[in-house]
Amino acid sequence: MMKRLLLSLVTIAGAFTLQAQTITGKYEIPKVPDWAKNAVFYQIYPQTFCDSDGDGIGDLKGIISKLDYVKSLGVDAIWFNPFFDSPFNDAGYDIRDYYKIAPRYGTNDDAKKLFEEAHKRGMHVIFDYVISYTAIDHPWFVQSQKQEKNKYSNYYIWTETNWVDPPFEFAGQFVKGYGQRNGQFMRNFYWCQPALNFGFANPDPKQKWQLPTNHPDVMAMREDLKNVLRFWMDMGCDGFRADMAGALVKTRRVRGNEQFFNTNENETKLFWREIRQLLEKEYPQGFMVAEWSYPADALDNCFHVDFFHWFKGYNDLFQKESWRILNGVSEGHSYFDAEGKGDIKEFLASYMDQYNKTLGKGYISLPMGNHDNARLGNKRTDKELEIIYAFGFTMPGVPFLYYGNEIGMRQLPTSWPQVEGAYQPRNGARTPMQWSKDKNLGFSTGDADKLYLPVDPAPDAPNVAEQEKNPNSLLNKTRQLIALHHSEPALADYAEFVPLYPTGDGDPYPFVYARAAGKDVVLVMLNPRAKASDATFSINVKFKKTKVLAGDRFTILHNKKAGNMTIHMPATSYAVVKLL
Ligand code: NOJ
Repeated sequence: MMKRLLLSLVTIAGAFTLQAQTITGKYEIPKVPDWAKNAVFYQIYPQTFCDSDGDGIGDLKGIISKLDYVKSLGVDAIWFNPFFDSPFNDAGYDIRDYYKIAPRYGTNDDAKKLFEEAHKRGMHVIFDYVISYTAIDHPWFVQSQKQEKNKYSNYYIWTETNWVDPPFEFAGQFVKGYGQRNGQFMRNFYWCQPALNFGFANPDPKQKWQLPTNHPDVMAMREDLKNVLRFWMDMGCDGFRADMAGALVKTRRVRGNEQFFNTNENETKLFWREIRQLLEKEYPQGFMVAEWSYPADALDNCFHVDFFHWFKGYNDLFQKESWRILNGVSEGHSYFDAEGKGDIKEFLASYMDQYNKTLGKGYISLPMGNHDNARLGNKRTDKELEIIYAFGFTMPGVPFLYYGNEIGMRQLPTSWPQVEGAYQPRNGARTPMQWSKDKNLGFSTGDADKLYLPVDPAPDAPNVAEQEKNPNSLLNKTRQLIALHHSEPALADYAEFVPLYPTGDGDPYPFVYARAAGKDVVLVMLNPRAKASDATFSINVKFKKTKVLAGDRFTILHNKKAGNMTIHMPATSYAVVKLL
């Protein structure tokens, strides 16, 4: 029987103090649909996954043809980036028709078939629910920008005259001089993405254009959006990822973390709770994922999962040369790099804050790449990527893996111009999937100059076919890590998480944490630095031996009883180890 002891306080340098780090093995499974209790997701960017008709752009039939491959990764579900009709000023996030698949991807029947084929293989699917704004040529906005009053006049946020700017707190958020109507409209991202009107939490009586959240036109707009959701759920989707989920209801004053497009989080939460209730009633197996990046709000009886990636600590982990490059100068170093100059303190401080606030309420997801960030394969070796995936598949929460990262696809050049609103680093992370050594790396039979984005021109560009043949390829290592995530109770999405090292101002490498479920305890030790690292930390679990579940050699220098443990990790190594 394992004996558990209470430990003294462990301090992480800076403002962050770890509470007593006791491994208890206790956990609570958040209230989520059954299929999603321990799910792993794969993210597919429809433009560049597989082109079935040679027009240079990926499509739904292409995706269907690759579902066996996706299933072979061991994932449970797929998130599709937007596939709706769009003018593509923001790669399809700017939706023109919520009810129609973009012709370049196929038809609604193809979508239905795609969902069916995924289900046949035991996978679930979620779509991108983009409702904080529409495309500028969405029929609602085309009506809304007319001077004469109509049903859609208030579906968007318009000031009363083009000539008077809205108060200073909205600086930069309104577009002046567009359309027939005498007013300025609020945008939610690019200028051509007019914000849908979810109302104002505390309308300023002097600014008549600020409508309350219960205004009949605001309520009608919300009902229309609910019907969009029903439409795709009826078509076969199992849930959605909500774009800019936190940026719906506006406020006139900016306080706390409301600065994101003058959002009021409490009123925004009320809307998402209505959606949660709608799902629970009408689609009880429906799953909700947020792009909010503030789990304490997103998981507060709203979503099942929140992507936690728009904060400095996440950049500190992976992002070296991406958002952080300003005028050609990188702002810093990332933790998961061989140079070993990164730090993980800020990440841990923010993560633990959110983790503790949301325990049992839902899942935090730290995505392994996505279409908005630079590829993780940004000047990293396969081994360095494997260490990142060891982290991603052993942290709590729902792992999301971005297409192509399983083979180590690389970030492409910063010299490229933008494509469909994807400025660097986004366009360099959205290049076609690399299936084989064939023409266009197996993505398309079309002419190379017609491709949505060029394929990686490097002679050694990784591809699926070659990696399938090698049992030690990154692709196969990724599969093993996904399988491990599913098979080890202590690595489940919901199992307990206890960070153990670093614990102070000393060497920040390696990163060591425990995961536990009942009596199962697994230690994860990550040393991305190209230099050996030792760590001493406290652990309240007694064990007789260790079983390496994944990774490399490591040495226990000292641990006889529960108490202090010292380990030695070789350069660029990791170990996932069960305590027995
Ligand atoms: C987040 C999406 O992931 C991104 O690609 C898009 O440009 C913005 N939201 C605006 O919708």
